[in-house]
Amino acid sequence: MPAVVLVGAQWGDEGKGKATDLLGDRVDYVVRYQGGNNAGHTVVIGDQKYALHLLPTGVLSPNVVPVIGNGVVVDPGVLLSEIDGLSERGVSSERLLISADAHLIMPHHKAIDKVTERFLGKARIGTTGRGIGPAYGDKVYRMGVRVQDLLDPGILRKKIEAALQEKNQILTKLYNRRAIEADKVLEEYLGYAERLKPHIADTSLILNRALDDGKTVLLEGGQGTLLDIDHGTYPFVTSSSPTSGGACAGSGIPPTRLTRVIGILKAYTTRVGSGPFPTELTDEMGEWLRTTGGEYGVTTGRNRRCGWFDAVIARYASRVNGVTDFFLTKLDVLSGLERIPVCVAYEVDGVRHDEIPMTQTDFHHAKPVYEEFPGWQEDISGATSFDELPPNAQAYVRTLEEMSGARISAIGVGPGRTQTLQLHSLI
Ligand code: IMP
Repeated sequence: MPAVVLVGAQWGDEGKGKATDLLGDRVDYVVRYQGGNNAGHTVVIGDQKYALHLLPTGVLSPNVVPVIGNGVVVDPGVLLSEIDGLSERGVSSERLLISADAHLIMPHHKAIDKVTERFLGKARIGTTGRGIGPAYGDKVYRMGVRVQDLLDPGILRKKIEAALQEKNQILTKLYNRRAIEADKVLEEYLGYAERLKPHIADTSLILNRALDDGKTVLLEGGQGTLLDIDHGTYPFVTSSSPTSGGACAGSGIPPTRLTRVIGILKAYTTRVGSGPFPTELTDEMGEWLRTTGGEYGVTTGRNRRCGWFDAVIARYASRVNGVTDFFLTKLDVLSGLERIPVCVAYEVDGVRHDEIPMTQTDFHHAKPVYEEFPGWQEDISGATSFDELPPNAQAYVRTLEEMSGARISAIGVGPGRTQTLQLHSLI
């Protein structure tokens, strides 16, 4: 009954899609447990590239049941267009299960996400503008509309009307926007209900029974550890819990059933949106990493901020997630560098910190303390085993492993399905 969690160990975009896909054929269920269509997973199969936002990557493997867990916020219009887009390319989503308890992103959530960001000006979070924060806000405020409400038009109407009574005041009076009409929203969402009905299920029950039957469940996190609402760089975070604890809350699988936690770690660091990022490079080296690594957002197309590997962050991710194995991605991007700096600690006002400082104020002032390691000039994208890597690349991997607090069990050397070196089994 393996239940394996995949979590981003940095600020998201670590290449989780590749890792999920690698395991995809060996698992029976792939579950998204938090976030929504703010996520973006790129999977390359042969000459086909798939960008998935809301659908679990398992949808690409015909023998896997993809599951949207209760912890996800679902924009039904986006979900259906993603399903239709895949269907046009011959990929069926028929097996998809959606938790009846997941919350829906409503038109007012998207409207409020956009206006509040504009209102914050320079202090903005840099959200994806998809209504994620406001949808989670209403969930916690107990004002949310859930997937199961799509099955009861009477309840759906009541909930939409109740929400808009308040949200329209905010939109019109505070932000000078147009009010949203309840009837129109109801009509739109009842249309979605027709199509989504066959997919709505008690996914917690199904997943626990599947584990009882010896099936393998992969829990696929979106975003990353440092974007976690509790453990990230608050307030520059997303509104859910990508960390491994969130996998339980967001799927209904208890902690005692988790067997592995795999942290996905990029061989350097990137971040989208605002917030502290100690190893960020704002010079031509940062631009080089961005261009060489193709660091442009799957979801928003925004340039990702780029910087060197930060071992303090990796150790932190290892600790808060209980990482058992790391999957190191994009090692090939670093080929051709003379020397590769790695951040081993921070300095804050003259004081060395080996761990993330307790306060955000200190973290904002953290200056990286670097150690430099020799690079390699060879193209490693065709390597098929760890031993085929140049000695300096092997040493770089071993150094990151020592600093990061868990073994490195797989290494990505290119975007393709086959460009992965496996050192230990991940399930
Ligand atoms: P939100 O999730 O749209 O509310 O955005 C909050 C923060 O999380 C912003 O800094 C976003 O750029 C960041 N974020 C959300 N999803 C992702 C992701 O998949 N990768 C990287 N950053 C993300």
